Amino acid sequence: MAEHLADLSVRGLDLVDPSALSQDAKALMTEECEKIAPFDEKKLEEILDLYIRTGIPVHSPGYMGRQFSGVVPLGGVVEFVSSVLNQPSSFYEAGQLPNVAERLMADELNRFIGWEPGRFAMVTTSGGSLANLTAMLAARNQKFPRFWPDGAAGLEGGARPAIAVSDDVHYSVSRAAGVMGIGEAQIVRLPLNGRRQISIEGARAALAAAERANLRVFCLVASAGTTSVGAFDPIGALADLARERDIWLHVDGAHGASLLVSDRFRHKLRGIEKADSLTWDAHKMTFVPAPCTLLFYRDREASGGAFRQRASYVFDEKPDIYTELDSGDRNFECTKRPMIMSLWVLWAMYGRALFAEKVEYLCALTQQAYHLLHAEPDFETVHRPEANILCFRYRPHGVAEEDVHALQVAIRNRVKLRGRFFISKVNVDGVAALRVVMMNHEITVDHFRMLLEEIRGVGRTLHGTHWNPRRNGGCS
Ligand SMILES: Cc1ncc(COP(=O)(O)O)c(C=O)c1O
Repeated sequence: MAEHLADLSVRGLDLVDPSALSQDAKALMTEECEKIAPFDEKKLEEILDLYIRTGIPVHSPGYMGRQFSGVVPLGGVVEFVSSVLNQPSSFYEAGQLPNVAERLMADELNRFIGWEPGRFAMVTTSGGSLANLTAMLAARNQKFPRFWPDGAAGLEGGARPAIAVSDDVHYSVSRAAGVMGIGEAQIVRLPLNGRRQISIEGARAALAAAERANLRVFCLVASAGTTSVGAFDPIGALADLARERDIWLHVDGAHGASLLVSDRFRHKLRGIEKADSLTWDAHKMTFVPAPCTLLFYRDREASGGAFRQRASYVFDEKPDIYTELDSGDRNFECTKRPMIMSLWVLWAMYGRALFAEKVEYLCALTQQAYHLLHAEPDFETVHRPEANILCFRYRPHGVAEEDVHALQVAIRNRVKLRGRFFISKVNVDGVAALRVVMMNHEITVDHFRMLLEEIRGVGRTLHGTHWNPRRNGGCS
């Protein structure tokens, strides 16, 4: 691992044919026999080597593609200890320090959210998708208390429960709706403004139209950092709108809630104190190993509403000092990793500044990259970055409008296969754009310059005479 971390060469993904990798991995498996095989250090070394070599190199400056981060390595050491101790953290008696650390960490982070200290609540969940589902369940059960015992059929007057989201909301939100029995027709789409944020006027009109269509919106989901371009919805104004209509405002801050720890960027989530719940992935911009998600609720009582079950073997009717920290009745998982430990230990060791500095560096780097792009006539930007996500297109003179999409897709695939840089792509207004996510503080603006050269080289080849996107799917 030390060697791996010390290697700061610019590398993307070394993409291996799955069947070849499967063969290599199979060759390392012990032959079936009666007895437990003796420990073979060489074999273990080979297995771990294969694991490291074929992994996505999140610590290399060539990794700019996704939202899981280049972690603070000490976090990994803590994860190792957690794995060996194996203390699930839904119940205090099974994981005492993790449960206390959850409370401490919640208090630390709530300083930046601003909810009433004795009243707010936090549970950890295995990922942001599960946090979104959990918050939406709490919202639904608050609005429709009979849904849990009676199901949808028991709703009064044939009410149709609905949620309101923007088109740029993460797919986990509409997936959660599906899980909850909220059909596509019960998802109210809120229009975006020119900065790809929910438009307040548009949202007001869409909610009024939903009401006229007999939809009862119980939850409005705002994004604090959309997955596609990292846009921040106007939380304060949406909270006012939601409150006027007695709608729960959930903020999906899986990506961008970490900006709260920075004095310079906290304003992106202005108004968060008026929201009802907040998803915060620490495995994204708080740089700890995945998964580590914190789901905050403004009101502790509401947090108890997501799940309504009795299980006498774990849930106590009258909590005492040992069980009042239990979260088993408020999170979906029964056995849950003590995921808070890596975050808490890093926070305990280095303090907030470690995270604030990294967040600020990466956001500033993204701004620099944006300005660099502006000076390049063969590239176009598609938005002004608000955090650390930047989307753009390679678009030299002479590329026909209808070929722009296929060219970006082909560039992304070709860059990935070349293995020097790892970037992603996303459709913006139906047309593919190249997407860079700055998740690793080893990246400098010079690396971004190198990436542009790589894209330009690949793009020129593809855009040459041999390339016809409509004939061969974008690859010559
Ligand atoms: C805005 C947003 N919400 C939710 C998620 C899902 O989080 P997770 O991958 O932790 O389940 C993501 C993941 O990228 C995201 O960007």
